[in-house]
Amino acid sequence: MPAPAPEIRVLPAAEAAVPTLLDELRRVVAANERPLVSFATGGTFTGMFTALARELRDGGIGRDFVATHLDEYVDFPPARAGGMVHELVTGCPPLGDMLAAGAFVPVPHVDDAAALAAHAQKLRELGGVKLQLLGIGRNGHIAFNEPGTAFDTGFHVATLAEATRQDARARFLPGEPPRRAVTSGIATILAADRLVLCAFGAAKADAVRGMLQGEVATGCPASALRRHGNLLVLLDREAARGFDAAADQASAAP
Ligand code: F6R
Repeated sequence: MPAPAPEIRVLPAAEAAVPTLLDELRRVVAANERPLVSFATGGTFTGMFTALARELRDGGIGRDFVATHLDEYVDFPPARAGGMVHELVTGCPPLGDMLAAGAFVPVPHVDDAAALAAHAQKLRELGGVKLQLLGIGRNGHIAFNEPGTAFDTGFHVATLAEATRQDARARFLPGEPPRRAVTSGIATILAADRLVLCAFGAAKADAVRGMLQGEVATGCPASALRRHGNLLVLLDREAARGFDAAADQASAAP
């Protein structure tokens, strides 16, 4: 039986996604005892992290959840600028408090199969990811699962696509962007209870169309999400430009 089709909402602007994302988090925290919530990094979520910091400080969202995230550059420990944990705790300082208190489980920054297996095991012991936030690369990647990555992968070390390195270049100037990252695999992502993917801006339009209406195949890693069955997609108008809502019947997974 095909998975239920994703719910797709086209918003007037990226900022309009923030209340929805905070509501998703509020709901999962209310419905579960200390749920594991996995965040994505990147420009897509900057506004959400600013708002989340406020909510966590004011108690609008309680801290009774465990945080984790999708991916980390190899050799980027939490304090190293440019890394994902550094981005998260800088953009949302209460996550730094949670990290210090052991309530934020960082992705290992080492190319070490045992460390990656231990991380995956820890996430399982915490009950598995209840809510997974996702961005999408303009080449259709999710986390750092670049085109060609098999759908049955767990945590692994990925070699970054050139487009991905170019997109990350500004954050590493005057140095070179890293070439390798530890990433949550596609199977890991699909194991989460609820997925919410955001894509904003015209540069994402082709990837969004591939994800929602292209072939479900490794050429577009995000197309795997159509096999999930509990996926909310939040788009702004530019990112939705290539998406043909009338043809959406085709979006259910085979
Ligand atoms: C980062 C991640 C990536 C980004 C994607 C979009 O943790 O998982 O897949 O979500 O590259 O990045 P931005 O949001 O910077 O366009």
